[in-house]
Amino acid sequence: MSKSNQKCLENKSILEFYDGKSIFVTGAAGFLGVILLETFLRCFSGIQFIYILLRSKKGVSPEERKNELFKKPIFKELRENNPSAFSKVLVVNGDVSLPNMGMSEEDLLQVIENVTIVFHCAASISFMKPLKYLLVHNAGGVNNAIELCKKLRHCEVLVDTSTAYSNSNRRLKIEERVYRLPYPAQRFLEYARSGKDESLEQISSECKPDFPNSYVLSKCISENLILENASDIPTAIIRPSLISSTWKGPLPGYSEENSNPAQLLNGIGKGFIKVSSALPEATYEFIPVDVVANTHVIAAYSVATGRSPSPFVVNCTSYGSVPHPVTFKQLIPLYLKLVQRYPLPNTFRYSNHVWSGKNTVVKEIISLFEHYIPAVGFDLILTLKGKKPRLMSLYRYLDKVMMTSTYFMTRNWEYEIKNFRNLKNEVSPEETKMLYTDIGDLNFEEYANDLPKGAPYFDWRLDKMPKTKRLKLAKKFYHFTVYMQVVSIIILFWIFYSLCSLMANMSLTN
Ligand SMILES: NC(=O)c1ccc[n+]([C@@H]2O[C@H](COP(=O)([O-])OP(=O)(O)OC[C@H]3O[C@@H](n4cnc5c(N)ncnc54)[C@H](OP(=O)(O)O)[C@@H]3O)[C@@H](O)[C@H]2O)c1
Repeated sequence: MSKSNQKCLENKSILEFYDGKSIFVTGAAGFLGVILLETFLRCFSGIQFIYILLRSKKGVSPEERKNELFKKPIFKELRENNPSAFSKVLVVNGDVSLPNMGMSEEDLLQVIENVTIVFHCAASISFMKPLKYLLVHNAGGVNNAIELCKKLRHCEVLVDTSTAYSNSNRRLKIEERVYRLPYPAQRFLEYARSGKDESLEQISSECKPDFPNSYVLSKCISENLILENASDIPTAIIRPSLISSTWKGPLPGYSEENSNPAQLLNGIGKGFIKVSSALPEATYEFIPVDVVANTHVIAAYSVATGRSPSPFVVNCTSYGSVPHPVTFKQLIPLYLKLVQRYPLPNTFRYSNHVWSGKNTVVKEIISLFEHYIPAVGFDLILTLKGKKPRLMSLYRYLDKVMMTSTYFMTRNWEYEIKNFRNLKNEVSPEETKMLYTDIGDLNFEEYANDLPKGAPYFDWRLDKMPKTKRLKLAKKFYHFTVYMQVVSIIILFWIFYSLCSLMANMSLTN
């Protein structure tokens, strides 16, 4: 870029920068992607086109999925005030794990010709999928995004969404830079793609300290791929911690059902989760999704205009950003208070406490009484009613999920957030209201209290729910489970006592 062009770009505001531009977004149907899309449609009237890459899912075509997206409550304001904005969104059928992201030749040509900025948010966020799958989808997706950027007629910047946990195998302060692996990242991807499972396992096991799971390793490899293969493209790597509900914007409290905090609240609220493996003193490392989306928008601008170097790594965390970190000891009672005030639909058991701690023996004993014994009772009722028992299998699944997330709920990391903090200096005073990233004045209790307005189980029917029949039933079931627990303790004690007497008698007769 010539010096005069660079100078001209540097003087543009963020809104001016995006004027007349076309962007490409992967993962637009996901939690973060939806908010990024909404932000662009609501705040950037000058944007030309937004290409969103979607795949068919459960028989629903990408075009139909796009239409479903715009029915989400987060788009209500746009539907009412500026419905023509939706015509800027062009759907592209594809899959990020495939060469050219699986796009048709026609779509690819259009993208190459028009797009200058790529936001790659798509990823499999499962903690349970095998490494090979996660490498093909996550690292493979990043590699294909890099390849796409190299083909664009003019590429201004590639923004990749990583995670604050991409280096969670380390116990030091996580800096805003890419940490190198002992092998080239490309090698991991080649082994995964060519089915060399043993070689893949071998080099993965040599990445020390050990990674807590394959998802995190796949994200670390993705970051390394950017360092290795994208040196000729301006890039930004955004590392959010646990992405949680919207803080501000058109619908504070908005979240998607598959988001981690929403699942936790849902589980607690329905009386399903009574035992958690979170360490009470550990910090709940959240970051509002709208702040993450704004970080993407500003970082792209900052790198493309040469204000920030490439690769520009941004740790997007509440660590260092909020004056008082929130611990699980504070979070769980807050959620309990919320769901007692606004009970969730399909609540099957009244929630008034959740045990959390590190001692696995105590955890297993409490799980037996709080989860498994009531599950037997509930499944028995279902069987007697001629329905399929399901609670026991749900608890087995919960245990697996808990096992994969315990590592993150019992530890804290320190983060460098210089780049994250500096982003707010890129925003003009007029833009700050829309493109906020500073969460220094976020009041967590007020933030959590917005959840009933925006969470996916919207049926919270704010004032009416506490009096409903369902709550009465949930309370009855709660009393029933307490009764079952007491009976089980008596039976267990009786069995234990009988066994002891039997053994004592046997030793006497001998
Ligand atoms: N959620 C968090 O707490 C968190 C924290 C840190 C970082 N992140 C990162 O943030 C990004 C967005 O996460 P999210 O919370 O929005 O997750 P999400 O709700 O699961 O969305 C991910 C999206 O990626 C799409 N996707 C996955 N594989 C794909 C493929 N092969 N081809 C095309 N699309 C594919 C999914 O499409 P379908 O709808 O078709 O399945 C989905 O819409 C991810 O990169 C994630 O690693 C998330």
